Amino acid sequence: MRNALNKLADSVKDDDDKRFKFENELDSFFTLFRRYLIEKSSKDNTLDWDRIKSPGSEEVLRYETISDSKAEDVSTLSKLAVLKLNGGLGTSMGCVGPKSVIEVRDGNSFLDLSVRQIESLNRKYDSDVPLLLMNSFNTDKDTEHLIKKYSANRIRIRSFNQSKYPRVFKDSLLPVPTDYNDPLDCWYPPGHGDLFESLLSSGELDALIAQGREILFVSNGDNLGATVDLKILNHMIETNAEYIMELTDKTRADVKGGTLINYDGQVRLLEVAQVPKEHIDEFKNIRKFTNFNTNNLWINLRAVKRLLEQGSIEMEIIPNQKTISRGGHDINVLQLETACGSAIRHFNGAHGVVVPRSRFLPVKTCSDLLMVKSDLFYLQHGALKLDPSRFGPNPLIKLGSHFKKVSNFSERIPHIPKIIELDHLTITGNVFLGKDITLKGTVIIVCSDGQKIDIPNGSVLENVVITGNLQI
Ligand code: UTP
Repeated sequence: MRNALNKLADSVKDDDDKRFKFENELDSFFTLFRRYLIEKSSKDNTLDWDRIKSPGSEEVLRYETISDSKAEDVSTLSKLAVLKLNGGLGTSMGCVGPKSVIEVRDGNSFLDLSVRQIESLNRKYDSDVPLLLMNSFNTDKDTEHLIKKYSANRIRIRSFNQSKYPRVFKDSLLPVPTDYNDPLDCWYPPGHGDLFESLLSSGELDALIAQGREILFVSNGDNLGATVDLKILNHMIETNAEYIMELTDKTRADVKGGTLINYDGQVRLLEVAQVPKEHIDEFKNIRKFTNFNTNNLWINLRAVKRLLEQGSIEMEIIPNQKTISRGGHDINVLQLETACGSAIRHFNGAHGVVVPRSRFLPVKTCSDLLMVKSDLFYLQHGALKLDPSRFGPNPLIKLGSHFKKVSNFSERIPHIPKIIELDHLTITGNVFLGKDITLKGTVIIVCSDGQKIDIPNGSVLENVVITGNLQI
């Protein structure tokens, strides 16, 4: 592997800066790869279940217990910078470009809404909080294009690229690319755990510290509920915590997310991959592990610098297998990723805060997109707010495979129905919704193969099952 990586580095000619950066990336990749091989040979990355304890009240506290008076001090905004993780593509929703350019609401993309949130924060408090975007080689061009329109606005937007690592063949474990200029599918962005290294190598970490910024609020680009919260910011400063993870209460639909635990006296993130097989059901149980990571993270920048200098931000490796096409053949490749939540255990005073669900509003599928576009929410300064007349949890929406791509979704549901009184919606098959439709209670629309269901304009559907032409 080392020889292959050296050859790869040699393929950069006549550009010392580029070569230097590339060599550094390949070194970091090699370190990760070597760790992967060592851990793989020990064959067990699960934790000792008996040593896992529930976190104490100091280790995970509820948002409501932080006094509202903490929100009064706005001077601390001068210490804050906001970062959106923007390296991911919208492939799971059938889009070719970055997910953040998908239109979410009133002609605004995720990115537009993030910009509007920070702009209105700065206007309201006369502050100058910068917005940083961590792009990847997959997303930087489209993102640069989109943010150009904000160059005259009252907001400082900085973007930098995360690392570009070589994918490896699953069988031989050798790198797929042999030249720096090899096609994009030979490479991958190594997960958002790469944030720390990339902040440093891009020079943004030192620049932020030099500007007096102490805390970085990080969140997923598709989480429209992740707004700057003064209570959490001031609580973090007062408690000298170097890292705060926002968690939210689990519902039965949230089986995937990691949770905070106390492991040998240390706060750690427990992900499903680390759970021994025989305890998976227990892990998913919402009574034992009551909350999960939203990936809204507040991180002290000086601590990041210190830990990077010590070389001690080690995160669990997430091996991710993919298939790429070569000369008409499918080839299995492997990419090794990390997630920034698992870095929590390295930071002093790190703890979790259980926040209201409204701070976790991710859009992973077109079912989520239907919800955030609907009358259930209204837009306030770029943030989505739940309509106060809504009662109970958000509806459970399941759209079938005909609605997987955003383009299919928009064609089949060109006008978003009113869903403020909806509890549960399932739509599968060749279904089209008309204009001015209202859905209430439980609505199930199932269209069999070879058929088509058109829901006419103005329909009000309440507690119905529609299959073909049959209504029950
Ligand atoms: P992820 O893909 O890690 O998590 O992206 P997810 O959105 O929860 O995905 P699934 O549904 O579990 O598979 C979380 C955020 O991190 C960014 C993405 O753009 C998204 O905003 N990200 C992801 C990066 O910036 N870089 C990466 O290498 C991966």
